[in-house]
Formats: sequence, C-alpha cells, structure tokens
Amino acid sequence: MSKYLDYHIWHELSRRAIELAIKTDVKNFVVNYENRIISYDRDFDGYVISGMGGSGIVGDIIRDLAYDRIDKNIIVIKDFTLPRHITKGNYLIFSISYSGNTRETIDFTLKALKHGLPIIAITTDGVLEKLCRKYNIPLINVPKATAPRYGLPSLLYSTLTIISSYEKEIISNEEINESIEVQKQVINEVELVRSAAHSINGKIPLIYVPSPIASVGLRFKNDLNENAKVAAIVAVFPESEHNDITIHMLKHDNVIPIVVTSSILNTEYQIHTECIINVIRSYNYDPLVVELKGKYKLSVIMYGITLLGLISLELAYIRGINPIVIEPIDRIKNELSKKLEQFHIC
Ligand code: PA5
Repeated sequence: MSKYLDYHIWHELSRRAIELAIKTDVKNFVVNYENRIISYDRDFDGYVISGMGGSGIVGDIIRDLAYDRIDKNIIVIKDFTLPRHITKGNYLIFSISYSGNTRETIDFTLKALKHGLPIIAITTDGVLEKLCRKYNIPLINVPKATAPRYGLPSLLYSTLTIISSYEKEIISNEEINESIEVQKQVINEVELVRSAAHSINGKIPLIYVPSPIASVGLRFKNDLNENAKVAAIVAVFPESEHNDITIHMLKHDNVIPIVVTSSILNTEYQIHTECIINVIRSYNYDPLVVELKGKYKLSVIMYGITLLGLISLELAYIRGINPIVIEPIDRIKNELSKKLEQFHIC
C-alpha cells in the first residue's frame, strides 16, 4: 500500500461521485413519511449540511464556496440537535456519514425526518443507508475508501453536484474540472510534501488561514490530528489577528506558524496575509508559507486539502505512525452508544 493511500485515485473518486449524484436524480423523489409528503422538486431557502469529522468537512468546504456566490444560506451542523429555525424553515438537508453509523449524524437525520424535512443521504453503508432504503429517501451510495477522510472526493463532489442542480451559480463545469485536475498535479509535489513534513516534525502547527478558505485550515488540522496524531491549532484570519497572534510575544520553540495563502484572494486578504507574516517574523519566528495554486476557489481549496493531507501522511510516515488507526475515535463511538442505550436514548 502506498504511503499516500487513496490520494492517487482522488480525481477518479471525484468524477465517479458526480456521475452517481446525477444518476440518483434527486428531484424525482417524493418521500412519504408517516403520511407526510416530502418533495424535492422545489426551491429551498437554504441547505443544511450535517456530518462529523471526515464527513463533516464537506459542509465547511461548500460553505466557503457558496459564501459570495449564492443568495441562500449554507448551514453546517456538526451535532445531533437541530436548531429551531431549521425545524421551521424550508431547507434541504444533506446527511453525510461515510460509515453511515455515526451517532450524531443519524440522530440529526431522524430528528429532521420527524420534522418532515427533505433529506439526502451520502454514505457507503450502515444505519443511514438502511434508513434511506426503508423510507425511499434519496441515497448516494459512494464507494469505500481506506478510511472516511480518504473518501472526501466522493462525499464532496456528490453533495456539490446536487446543490448545483438547485443553485447553478455555485460552480461552473470549468471550475469543477480544474479542481479535479489539481488533485492529480499535487500528487507530484513530492519534494514540497517531504520538506514541509520535516519542518513540522516535532512541532505544534499554528495554521493561519484566510476566512474565505477556512475549510483548508480546518481539514489540515483534522488530518494532522487523525493521520499524524499531533496537536494543531487553526487560526482563521482576520479573527486570529485579535488573539492567536499574541502567542508570538513569547518564544514557543515547539510551535511552527504556517501561513496558507492564495493569489486568488482579493487585495484586502493579500494585505492581511502580508501583515501577519511581517508581524510573525518581527518576533523571530520563521513561518512556513504555503501558496495554494489554482485559478478558481474550489481548485485552490482542493489543491490545499490534497497537499496538506499528503503532508500529514508524510509526517505520520516520518514518525512511524499508522495514519489509518484512530483508536480513541472508535473507543468514544463505542462508549457513547453503550451509555446512550443505557439511558434509552437510541
Ligand atoms: O476520518 C475519520 O475517520 C473520522 O473523522 C470520521 O469521518 C468521523 O468519525 C465520522 O465518521 P463517518 O465519516 O463515518 O460519519
């Protein structure tokens, strides 16, 4: 098995996910749940994307993308409860769980169903799939990967394809194509991946990321946690200019500032990036600056997520750590389901 696991086939997973989503033909579904008719061929006021960890990041990415492109809200839920305004609103719900067995996502989905909200599930298997089959809920059954987070393109591109069937302005075909092409290119950035992983080794990364592409920083933190088992901090700016940046007043030998940047960001963000780098340097820190390539926002995001994901795998490799095993997550999932059963919260 390659140390970069499924990343070599990410571009194929992306294309396959688009095909699967188109084939599912979501708008033709009509769900009858306890005599409530739920239709999908209508306008929605917004989209709710629910999921945890490697599945939940899909919501962050799509929220970044939609921010200045569509008039509607993208609400990201990483929880088992529904905010009141969702239960009363006209939202399309995406329930994303790679395994289909994540407790929070299932609970959230069941609650949404009880409120008569239209749900689309994206999963490989599990309780979520069974629920969809039982109630004829639209289901995108994506292929399995080595672990949930390595199956990101399947979860992301299927969700995005469906949202774009309702909101054409969210993405163009050209942008989709470039975002898939960059995934292939990143695989060849071997030297960059190696040298970055060596610089990070033994340190706590403090990831400065501009808010329009915050999902890249969040995913990098999650990948560092899960793949390399290291602590990491995401410092989304401009907010981090008002808190995180003060830590540089002291010399923390175990902290490495990483500044994520891209030339597609507007001048204001470029100025903020430059100022952050200057201030960090003025305290004798040497930040690792990662310039993300790509002409479009999704390409930049996918370039960043792929590159930084590979760096986290390389770091795991250098440290002799198995990136796939995430024992504490499995342990907490088991413990939770036992406890919740005891309290009859099932
Ligand atoms: O990447 C991982 O393994 C985790 O972050 C999982 O995605 C997370 O625990 C949620 O599980 P699932 O994606 O199966 O819903």
